[in-house]
Amino acid sequence: MTDTIAESFTPPAFAPSAATPAEPLSYGSYLEVPGLLELQRPRTDAHDEMLFIITHQAIELWFSCALHELEQVRTSLDRELLGQARWGLRRLTRVTSLWLGHLDVLATMTPAGFNEFRGALGESSGFQSVQFRELEMISGLRDRRYLNLPGASVAERERLLRRFHEPTLNDAFMDLLERRGLSPEKLFAPGRAAEELRDTAEDLLAYDALFHQWRYQHWMLVVRALGARPGSGGSAGSEFLRTTLDKWFFPELHEARSQVHAAPAGEASPEGDGNVVYGCPMGYGSDLSA
Ligand code: HEM
Repeated sequence: MTDTIAESFTPPAFAPSAATPAEPLSYGSYLEVPGLLELQRPRTDAHDEMLFIITHQAIELWFSCALHELEQVRTSLDRELLGQARWGLRRLTRVTSLWLGHLDVLATMTPAGFNEFRGALGESSGFQSVQFRELEMISGLRDRRYLNLPGASVAERERLLRRFHEPTLNDAFMDLLERRGLSPEKLFAPGRAAEELRDTAEDLLAYDALFHQWRYQHWMLVVRALGARPGSGGSAGSEFLRTTLDKWFFPELHEARSQVHAAPAGEASPEGDGNVVYGCPMGYGSDLSA
């Protein structure tokens, strides 16, 4: 397990541009606003293309922020600094919930508005977002297929490879449970023992739920914008995205948590059907055939 944030991720070299040493820093030069505002370059005259570009760029910036926070949370878990980990997770959930707001703005674009510039996108697609794959990997989903992400540069592929081999947030939490002699099931068992760890698990699950909400909202956006048409990245579009709704970062925690609500064998649920065993809405732990 890596020990420091610096060991786990080396940020790209920083090359400040605007201010020379003689010039005092200003709002614009510190934040590099002029350069930032040159990065929106629509390829058509379609009015909505600007919104499309800014929404993607803004979410990519927040992806970068989320990766930064995730590294710190993982380090905090390794060092058993639970207060610090929970603080980071609180920020992470707020950052993740912002992505939903961005999609909400983009949802004001009509299919006709999208059609005006869609052809200019070529084969480019959010599917190729390197940071999105990094987020999935560091959070808990290792999928070797994304190591050869289409459109990724050599440096980006190296970053993906590094992420792929790093311990995930899920690994870090499971290792911590093991060090404390706990299983996910024991963690969620009723009682006040290991309360701080359980609260941390709740924060992890809240992050997972919000990420999932993003997947769902993005899927709905695509259903409304594209219908049944294929995506620019070559997938079946909304049909492909529906299959990603099964992805979760902390399956063991979801499952253990849902077991707490499972009706003991043979005991009738409040609905009066003795065959129903409660499960979580995500499908973990539900067994409707029992
Ligand atoms: C009208 C707006 C949008 C449409 C029509 C759209 C369409 C699609 C489609 C069809 C895919 C599946 C891959 C493909 O064949 O292209 C996809 C994947 C993806 N899109 Fe979007 N998208 C939109 C907005 C966004 C925004 C604002 C983001 C933010 C960064 C985004 C990020 C992604 C990501 C990360 C994936 C990969 C999802 C996965 O594989 O789980 N998309 N998008």
